[in-house]
Amino acid sequence: MTETTQQDRVLIFDTTLRDGEQSPGATMTHDEKLEIAELLDEMGVDIIEAGFPIASEGDFEAVRDIANRSKNAVICGLARSSFKDIDRAGEALKGARRARIHTFISTSPLHMKYKLQMEPEAVLEAIEKSVSRARNYTDDVQWSPEDGTRTEHDFLCRAVETAIKAGATTINIPDTVGYTAPRESANIIAMLRERVPGIEDVVISTHCHNDLGMAVANALAAVEAGARQVECTINGLGERAGNAALEEVVMALRVRNDIMPYQTGIDTTKIMRASRLVSKATGFPVQYNKAVVGKNAFAHESGIHQDGMLKHAGTYEIMRPEDIGLTETNLVLGKHSGRAALRAKLRDLGYDLADNQLADVFVRFKELADRKKEVFDEDLIALMGDGTTESDRIRVKFLRVICGTEAPQSADLTLTVDGVDNQVTATGDGPVDATFNAIKALFPHNARLQLYQVHAVTEGTDAQATVSVRLEEGGKIVTGTSSDTDTVVASAKAYVNALNNLLVRREKTRPESI
Ligand code: KIV
Ligand code: ZN
Repeated sequence: MTETTQQDRVLIFDTTLRDGEQSPGATMTHDEKLEIAELLDEMGVDIIEAGFPIASEGDFEAVRDIANRSKNAVICGLARSSFKDIDRAGEALKGARRARIHTFISTSPLHMKYKLQMEPEAVLEAIEKSVSRARNYTDDVQWSPEDGTRTEHDFLCRAVETAIKAGATTINIPDTVGYTAPRESANIIAMLRERVPGIEDVVISTHCHNDLGMAVANALAAVEAGARQVECTINGLGERAGNAALEEVVMALRVRNDIMPYQTGIDTTKIMRASRLVSKATGFPVQYNKAVVGKNAFAHESGIHQDGMLKHAGTYEIMRPEDIGLTETNLVLGKHSGRAALRAKLRDLGYDLADNQLADVFVRFKELADRKKEVFDEDLIALMGDGTTESDRIRVKFLRVICGTEAPQSADLTLTVDGVDNQVTATGDGPVDATFNAIKALFPHNARLQLYQVHAVTEGTDAQATVSVRLEEGGKIVTGTSSDTDTVVASAKAYVNALNNLLVRREKTRPESI
């Protein structure tokens, strides 16, 4: 293999914990954020955007603790242009081996006029001041023109030049609303490289949203035009339609290295584990046909494809499952499987558990194996994704439903709320409706059910059902997930999991939208 030079090295900037977490409903707990950051660091992510420290106490603590534990990655905190934001980011990043402050302000005519209500000259002044302020904390300062792709080119050049002169070392061009297209994305980078004095001394970065499904294509086009940092998220998580997906950018650069001769530092065999971890933490299932990490990404169903695959895998497979850490193991667990087999299996699936965590999962595994003859990989992944935690304030203690052709269906439910058991019987239009009515009776709330989704984890009538519930309260959105061989039990637990997340969320506040 030829040696990587500065020219062909593309830095991977992961913003799962910042832009990804801004995705409605994708709340992660503190511990989940630490676990994700640790894995991102281990897999070779160059820069981890760990949060937006001014946004809430929780964000500050996450950035601080991730910074304190970082090993190789640069840890980055986001800040608007105000000194308060920048000082807070600087404070949170104090313990990082390598710290970056990422500061931004809008530069498009629309954003400057309506969102900021600032004149262009005042925006330039804010850029100068904010970047200089950030440089007091670290030599590594990234600046972004929000809504960059809809910014007039002359003004974009002036803004970027101002940021560079003030000391920015990375210039990131966000396609904030997912509006650009590949050729335009490349042209903007080329235009900046041609027109902005000093641009050759900084790293140019691209940050693409997926509103029109072009985020990855736009990011790669920017790389071909000279960007050397790609901002992305695991599973493409992010506001609205999400951000460019890390796994797609990295695998595209690897698989098509013949036409895109750029290298990343990512250990791709950790991709699947990262995908599962983020899906579990956020409760956002990965769509079956999602590129690279979807359940069907390596499944060859049609006869013609299967025949070709048997003759030579290359006929229909452009990457190997093991390249992304999908190992083919035939070991199916059952009720006689022991702790060691479970630990080995979970390790294969990317879950490295401490002894106390294993003990907890083992109990739940045994309960499942008692009800289900064979426990498949998907069952274990669902078990690991069960949103229940030790610190939950609300728990389902007992549930019995009566359902069938005779209405009304009813649910007899006992919930433990803050350690106290409460019981009720409620009716509804079907067993799930009756159960949800019972939950509302025992834990009154105004959250609105936005989504209720069930899918079978494996085939067969004894398959587990994974249920996702999304609740909305005063603009705040949370999700809950749970799996069980009994769909109504999974539904009750998913609803309760969402309520527990809502209680956590109530304590968090964010500044106005960014
Ligand atoms: O999409 C966007 O504009 C952002 C900035 C904060 C970089 O996320
Ligand atoms: Zn963004």
